Amino acid sequence: MGNRRPCLFLVFLVTLSRFVAQIHGVKNQGEALDNLYKAKFSRDYSIDTRPFEVIDTNQFEEMNTLLGKSKCHPRKEGSKKKDRIKRLPGQPHVRFSQYGGYITVNKTAGAAFYYYFVEADKHSKEHLPLLLWLNGGPGCSSLAYGAMQELGPFRVHSNGKTLYRNRYSWNNVANVLFVESPAGVGFSYSNSTWRTNGDRQTAAENYRFLVNWLGRFPEYKNRDFYIAGESYAGHYAPQLAQTVLHHNKKANTTIVNLKGVLIGNAAIDDETDNQGMYDFFGTHALISYDNLRKIHRYCDFSRAHESAECRHSLLKTDADVWNAIDVYNIYGPLCLDGNLTSRPRKTSLMNFDPCSDYYVYAYLNRPDVQEAMHANVTKLTYDWEPCSDFDWVDSASTILPLVKELMENGLRVWLFSGDTDGRVPFTSTQYAINKMKLPIKTEWYPWFHGGEVGGYVQVYKGDLTFATVRGAGHMVPSIQPVRASALISHFLAGTPLP
Ligand SMILES: *[C@@H]1O[C@H](CO)[C@@H](O)[C@H](O)[C@H]1NC(C)=O
Ligand SMILES: *[C@@H]1O[C@H](CO)[C@@H](O)[C@H](O)[C@H]1NC(C)=O
Ligand SMILES: *[C@@H]1O[C@H](CO)[C@@H](O)[C@H](O)[C@H]1NC(C)=O
Ligand SMILES: *[C@@H]1O[C@H](CO)[C@@H](O)[C@H](O)[C@H]1NC(C)=O
Ligand SMILES: *[C@@H]1O[C@H](CO)[C@@H](O)[C@H](O)[C@H]1NC(C)=O
Repeated sequence: MGNRRPCLFLVFLVTLSRFVAQIHGVKNQGEALDNLYKAKFSRDYSIDTRPFEVIDTNQFEEMNTLLGKSKCHPRKEGSKKKDRIKRLPGQPHVRFSQYGGYITVNKTAGAAFYYYFVEADKHSKEHLPLLLWLNGGPGCSSLAYGAMQELGPFRVHSNGKTLYRNRYSWNNVANVLFVESPAGVGFSYSNSTWRTNGDRQTAAENYRFLVNWLGRFPEYKNRDFYIAGESYAGHYAPQLAQTVLHHNKKANTTIVNLKGVLIGNAAIDDETDNQGMYDFFGTHALISYDNLRKIHRYCDFSRAHESAECRHSLLKTDADVWNAIDVYNIYGPLCLDGNLTSRPRKTSLMNFDPCSDYYVYAYLNRPDVQEAMHANVTKLTYDWEPCSDFDWVDSASTILPLVKELMENGLRVWLFSGDTDGRVPFTSTQYAINKMKLPIKTEWYPWFHGGEVGGYVQVYKGDLTFATVRGAGHMVPSIQPVRASALISHFLAGTPLP
């Protein structure tokens, strides 16, 4: 009898989280990552996991020549002036400029990426760097998460209609560019129905996007440029960085003035991502110690192969963790009611609302919002979604060689980690870094912000910083906006965390 209650409780939670996840068929960033990892770690997967290679085409050369050797636009399509967003519906008054529009990434296929760009305040925008933010998935929108729930200047009220200010927005310290990538994510589209999505194609199109975007915003062409992102952007960011370096070298000129890469809770190495995740579960009282022991014994994450014993342990983990709590923020609340409210619920930047996905979904699907943002100009036949389902054809099993290469090319590389994320936890990142066998420059120490520990940090030789953010989940700037803002300031300034 005594056992029954917890059982019922669990069933209740399982049903509830399934229900919540299925309103509008909305899928979140983590679910998309799970699907890919499950596919990679099963016997019958057909994903190409070989090391990443830059797709090199003549079209790029042509474009590079245009951008590198002359100041003119690579192609006259849109214009900066036309892309200026006068005002978003329901936004409070602000003192910075916003832009939104489309950049063609493949003319033949009719593929275009939607971008949303928020400049810094008009007094500082000219000397602040340019920062590109990428969300993961694969298949998730940087507008849905980065811009509207994490580091952007606004958050959406629970009425799905009005916006409130995020005063810890990263456009306090940078001009921030959000892009929905690849085609098929959010407002980004392809007119050709036949498409293969994967790491290589995404890197190539992200690069094209970037170069064409710089053509439209030429005052940013020589600006210090940083690539930042989270989760599966652990693939996207280093792969785009590698593509930038490749084309700079090939053109013997600085086409894109890349200075560094910053990635949070990064999917970066299949083996350590998996190992670190189960170890995190086992040491945070989410699975039994006995189950963790079995996982160690029966699961070999270095091979895409699952034994029956391993599968059994992982199923047990699904029930204990995935179907029970928010793995992306293990101590955080679940979204129990995703319905909009007629009046905005009281907001607090320090207390992230787990139902925010629903508010953003409602807001970005409004025709007046789309019009104001210059989005969905071709009248797509489907709605805007935070994450889209893709068959992913290639996903390198490790990104660590790329990270090394970026470091060797003098880029600043920071890997940060919200320490209450269970999906790509700090253990995974730490194991991945250990695999690189880098000498330590500055030993592990607590970093402080506002008189409290903001997290812990260790700096490696060759300029790699590993920093945790205390009390933050997968979406660090959502849960710990103040600490995240301290982190980005130090990253951009190139100063150690205090
Ligand atoms: C552009 O799209 C076409 C048609 O889908 C494809 O064959 C081609 O490889 C793409 N080009 C690039 C550079 O990705
Ligand atoms: C896609 O098709 C629409 C409708 O024909 C057209 O207006 C748009 O320019 C096309 N997009 C691209 C990137 O070619
Ligand atoms: C690359 O550019 C530098 C300086 O602009 C020049 O000295 C050098 O000869 C160039 N190298 C090649 C291979 O063109
Ligand atoms: C959300 O709205 C639906 C439809 O109006 C309603 O059936 C449901 O009970 C509401 N959910 C909650 C938890 O209030
Ligand atoms: C685009 O607009 C059409 C027509 O207004 C709408 O039905 C569709 O949901 C929108 N799609 C996206 C991706 O915004």
